[in-house]
Amino acid sequence: MSFDLSVIPNKNIIVAVSGGIAAYKSAILVRRLKDAGFDVRVVMTEGAQAFITPLTFQALSGNPVHTALLDPEAEAGMGHIELARWADLVLVAPATCDTLAKFAAGLADDLLSTLYLATKAPVWVAPAMNQQMWAAKATQRNLNTLIEDGVHVIMPDAGAQACGDVGLGRMPEPEDLARQVTEYFHRAQRAIAEKFGLLAGKHVVITAGPTRESIDPVRYISNHSTGKMGFALAAACYAAGAKVSLIAGPVSLDTPNGVRRMNVQSAMQMLEQSMDQLEKGCDIFIATAAVADYRVAHVAEHKIKKAGDELNVALVKNPDIVATIAQQEKRPFMVGFAAETRNVEEYAAGKLVAKKLDMIACNDVSRPDIGFASDENAMIVFFAEQYRLPQRDLEKASKQEIAQQLVEAIHDALHHKPDETDPDELK
Ligand code: C5P
Repeated sequence: MSFDLSVIPNKNIIVAVSGGIAAYKSAILVRRLKDAGFDVRVVMTEGAQAFITPLTFQALSGNPVHTALLDPEAEAGMGHIELARWADLVLVAPATCDTLAKFAAGLADDLLSTLYLATKAPVWVAPAMNQQMWAAKATQRNLNTLIEDGVHVIMPDAGAQACGDVGLGRMPEPEDLARQVTEYFHRAQRAIAEKFGLLAGKHVVITAGPTRESIDPVRYISNHSTGKMGFALAAACYAAGAKVSLIAGPVSLDTPNGVRRMNVQSAMQMLEQSMDQLEKGCDIFIATAAVADYRVAHVAEHKIKKAGDELNVALVKNPDIVATIAQQEKRPFMVGFAAETRNVEEYAAGKLVAKKLDMIACNDVSRPDIGFASDENAMIVFFAEQYRLPQRDLEKASKQEIAQQLVEAIHDALHHKPDETDPDELK
């Protein structure tokens, strides 16, 4: 699974640097963590300052660097206890033998060792040292103590060392460390979403983008859909704890984190994939795709040559994917979209009934500021009559925000049991 390094908001990392030659790598580590969206504060031991200056870390982290336990000025800003509480994770990189020994013994004679004792956040250590010092019994004993105490040890790499030795003791590359930290927060986020998310435990299938209907081996009929709304919805559903399968027509968008993507070209392929997903068990089906209404009746085997002033291509109607799924016996909660250029609400309400949908989101694609290629959208959501839910007007916002609101609308409808009672009986 690939991890998008730009989606971890509001997490605080302390990078604690102790005195080893690998300290230069920590500068890049801070940079990478910042790139990933973390707020980073750096703590340096006295030894670390012999290898690299606090100023470097201050510039890279955008925060003051913490170096001393008993510095009144620093304590007035963010004291060591406050710093310990601020952190969501403490990453000690590089961690020297001395630092490991202090942690294992529970000493508290400088800022870093005090911070270690004072924080409730997970502590990770990335030991970096000479291979003989790494192998020393005391170091291994200390490491075992730390592991028993719940510290996460990032094993050093083997290779050539600054001292000329070859062996275990090199700090992993900063990109690798930043990736491990990012993955950790993704996993934590995912675990929470899978338990408490609005769509926890649901399998959501989404169609997105245009379809491409071949005329001959080099030409096709398609439309201007970019797939942005469907991809934003896939990301929002995943963030809400759902398992997401995204059936995408030809678009140039990256697959959102954690989403399973199936690429298709034509409407027939999109239908086939949709039916496959339905068989695997689908709770919510969201049709954002702009499916071509017609396909070419006879796709030419070879490129059609230019001849005459007119070319007639016979078209036949494509199956309606969302309507087909809605007719199945074990139908999921069905969400459709309607992109219209006029009479938006009237047409959308008609489609809601005609396609037997549970919910429809409609927008006016004649507005140049929203719709197809735009990053923003504004929509009106209608629910099928039995839900007895009023329409929702989603004001113009980014497609991500609209997607989030649509997830909420789906969740609300799912928890607002359809009314099975015949309205006449109520009288
Ligand atoms: O094209 P139309 O306005 O009828 O599309 C409304 C909804 O139906 C959309 O959700 C679209 O994804 C879906 N649709 C479909 N298969 C088609 C045509 C439309 O699933 N062949």
